[in-house]
Amino acid sequence: MIIRKLASGLCGILLLAAYFGPLTLAAAEGEEGYTPTVLITGSNRGLGFEFVKQYTALGWKVIATARKPEKAEDLQTFAAENSNVIIEQLDITDLARVDELAEQYKGQPIDVLLNNGAISGSPDPKQLFGKVNYDRFDQFMDVNLRGPLKVSEAFLPNLKAGKKKRLVAVSSKGGSFANIDAMPSQGTMLYRTSKAALNMMMVNVADSVKGDDIVVVLLNPGLVDTQGMLTKMNEKMNLGLDLTLKEDSIAGMINVIETTTMEDSGKIFQYTGKVIGY
Ligand SMILES: NC(=O)c1ccc[n+]([C@@H]2O[C@H](COP(=O)([O-])OP(=O)(O)OC[C@H]3O[C@@H](n4cnc5c(N)ncnc54)[C@H](OP(=O)(O)O)[C@@H]3O)[C@@H](O)[C@H]2O)c1
Repeated sequence: MIIRKLASGLCGILLLAAYFGPLTLAAAEGEEGYTPTVLITGSNRGLGFEFVKQYTALGWKVIATARKPEKAEDLQTFAAENSNVIIEQLDITDLARVDELAEQYKGQPIDVLLNNGAISGSPDPKQLFGKVNYDRFDQFMDVNLRGPLKVSEAFLPNLKAGKKKRLVAVSSKGGSFANIDAMPSQGTMLYRTSKAALNMMMVNVADSVKGDDIVVVLLNPGLVDTQGMLTKMNEKMNLGLDLTLKEDSIAGMINVIETTTMEDSGKIFQYTGKVIGY
């Protein structure tokens, strides 16, 4: 079965095997007679879409949510070719819609709840101290903080019913105090603040759900050029950025999600599996 999936040519899966070996890959697959389910937010592009592709290749049922499914052409095409992918509309700032979707999936076990969707960290003058745009501030907190909290609360019964019980939030090294010296913050203050708060929130959530055997996993994907600009800039301007391929990043994060235990709940991991500081 593993060989057949590898042969299907999905680069990320090859990388997963190359990175962590076939035993880990097997562990990520569904057990005999059981198809695990993952729900992913912001799955129409970037890392979210790569999560969709790689979980699909592993044989999982994928609930791929997107803010505007009608515009998510690549995801639509992918779902048309893969019957285990279901697309659902979900803007995580729309609390009523989150509840509605949770009601729709009442009784459906979810093994991995993947809070991926966010406003990204590109530098922006509206985030500069002295010039802060407070609508933008609210937007960052609504999407990057309140959204994952609401989604996690609403789908908690589904996670409890799942076998793997992994509550995941894609965070960022940019939100980590341990890396404060390594990264300039000009123009990304609100993003970084939202991710720092996300970390603290998920540490608290981890404590709240440990009685339910739910493992909370915080992830840093590395620096991945999901907007299609960083690679060119890096080359042209010789920036020396340590970029990670999205296939590598997602393969690594899936492995971390799969292998973390209760002891790791609430910790933040680099996609490689290394624990990084908050
Ligand atoms: N790429 C990196 O280097 C990097 C580094 C550190 C952390 N991260 C984190 O990794 C995650 C994915 O990043 P990415 O690079 O793939 O970002 P991206 O390419 O900008 O994609 C962001 C995704 O989030 C969705 N989204 C935005 N607002 C939403 C809302 N209100 N409700 C639901 N979905 C919403 C977007 O949907 P629309 O298309 O509809 O806008 C899109 O699908 C984010 O949490 C990001 O902070 C990324």
